[in-house]
Amino acid sequence: MSGPAKRDLLSITDLEHDLPSLLARALEMKRARRRGELSAVRPGRNAALLFEKPSTRTRTSFEVAMNDLGGHALYLSSRELQLGRGETIADTARVLSRYVDAIVYRAFKHQDMEELARWASVPVVNALDDLEHPCQIVADLLTLSERWDGRFSGRTLAYIGDGNNVCNSLALGCALVGLDFVGAVPERYRPSEEVRRRAEGYARAHGSRVEFVSVPPEAARGADVLYTDVWVSMGDESQAAERTRAFAGYRIDSELLRAARPGAWVMHDLPAHRGLEITDEVIDGDRSIVWDQAENRLHAQKAILELLLPPR
Ligand code: CP
Ligand code: NVA
Repeated sequence: MSGPAKRDLLSITDLEHDLPSLLARALEMKRARRRGELSAVRPGRNAALLFEKPSTRTRTSFEVAMNDLGGHALYLSSRELQLGRGETIADTARVLSRYVDAIVYRAFKHQDMEELARWASVPVVNALDDLEHPCQIVADLLTLSERWDGRFSGRTLAYIGDGNNVCNSLALGCALVGLDFVGAVPERYRPSEEVRRRAEGYARAHGSRVEFVSVPPEAARGADVLYTDVWVSMGDESQAAERTRAFAGYRIDSELLRAARPGAWVMHDLPAHRGLEITDEVIDGDRSIVWDQAENRLHAQKAILELLLPPR
């Protein structure tokens, strides 16, 4: 049986041509849900949630998203699959594709993400790996779009901290919607040359900029949003001590927030390490929109799943 080519979401740039309509659809589904309408547009579909690492938001929001859409999600911890005993990713991909309509995968390595996508005959969604976290960034852009009526141009997001998976997808995602991105990231922790070049290319095409600086106040000055993420990502635990030292000056606190534009928002994809990358005062303060970001994972993912799972 050969149907239309399946569509994966491995990088935020796989949504290059869809972001505006996807954000509009997610907002529509969010409003509908508030009225009690679940948008059950993909009845009977199944998604496997294959996770190699822990998750609170991504796992729960994908499960609820599939239920809302009229389908079902199966949580599969890699440790409990034969994958944990040496069955290959290729074989796992081919077997799961015979049961489910999509595979949502949280992986340690982006190479494994690509390998799964190569062998799966159903859409594969990147639920975070060491290179990207695209679903998070769709939710983040939805959160800002709601506040700015869909207009990103002329505004600046300052990212403070580690040049990790979230930072990579955020730089690329901001560039795709024409939102200026300024990262304050110590030089040795910046995104790769390749990610930076790609982000700069998209930014040029959308009339915005992607820039990296070394000092947080330089990035924060005049910014409309301050965004941070953990200093020690899942998989980086062995570097915890050196990272905590390297990022000591990269905390979002009230003083840094004062350098931003009056009324600037504060974002964090969560989980937060309070007192490290962000202070209690800021994350619990009136500029913080982190809970909306977390909620929007659900609405954004409903729109993503609808897009990738064509109607039968
Ligand atoms: N932000 C995020 O992806 O959170 P989880 O690790 O809890 O899924
Ligand atoms: N950068 C973090 C994001 C967690 C959602 C990590 O990879 O652990």
